[in-house]
Amino acid sequence: MLIAQLTDPHIAGPGHLLCRRIDTASLLAGAVAAVNALNTPPDVVLLTGDLVDAGRPEEYGLLREILQPLKAPVLPVPGNHDERGALAAAFPELACLPQGGAFVQYAVEDWPVRLIGLDTVVPGAVGGAMCAERLAWLDATLSERPERPTVLFLHHPPFRTGIVHMDGFGFDGMDAFAAVVRRHPQVERALCGHMHRPIQRRWAGTLASTAPSTAHQVALDLSEGGPACFVMEPPGFQLHLWREDTGLVSHTVAIGRWDGPHPFQPPT
Ligand SMILES: [Fe+2]
Ligand SMILES: [Fe+2]
Repeated sequence: MLIAQLTDPHIAGPGHLLCRRIDTASLLAGAVAAVNALNTPPDVVLLTGDLVDAGRPEEYGLLREILQPLKAPVLPVPGNHDERGALAAAFPELACLPQGGAFVQYAVEDWPVRLIGLDTVVPGAVGGAMCAERLAWLDATLSERPERPTVLFLHHPPFRTGIVHMDGFGFDGMDAFAAVVRRHPQVERALCGHMHRPIQRRWAGTLASTAPSTAHQVALDLSEGGPACFVMEPPGFQLHLWREDTGLVSHTVAIGRWDGPHPFQPPT
């Protein structure tokens, strides 16, 4: 099973440049083309939040247009820039998505790895949360299928990253979240977005990670007073390969046109 993870495309209104310079729509179109061009097509594409920039229905309309050529099915969860009701309404064909503004949490059983989407959104806040209600659902859902290897996908990483201005927004219920996941050793990974960079940490008996954005990246600055800045490093996405004998192995892909591939031993 091959899982692609696209995150933080931040689609803004048609023709709008984010921060007056980021063409998020073209960048996401490039990501879709890159996924479609893989010689190993993914079974599913996880979209780990901040799908649009202001949670507006017209932004979700443009998002769907850009995603339309994607050959693999998508599974979205909301980020702090999303509006959970508008997001769910934009994917009416996904019967698994709770509608009507309820938490966008769901489990998908279609593949060898069970996929559980989590909703870490606090409306109006930049930081994330897992409240008692969301955690009770997760605990019960994980308890249903303890024998199934499982991937959690969510927007906010449940750990501090060292990028101080991002960590400052916080994650309410982080310790309670870790305590629930620790009770369920079938969790292979918690795949997150929000950080606009690839970051990993050992967490709650599993591994938690974030992926690069398909658009702009958060500048790498681990100093105490580091300012909130973005940088136009190459955009990217991740591929998570599951095989029974290897478990889940993750790769980061830089999107762009690069010199190569060249054979290590060219024919003579
Ligand atoms: Fe984001
Ligand atoms: Fe975010």
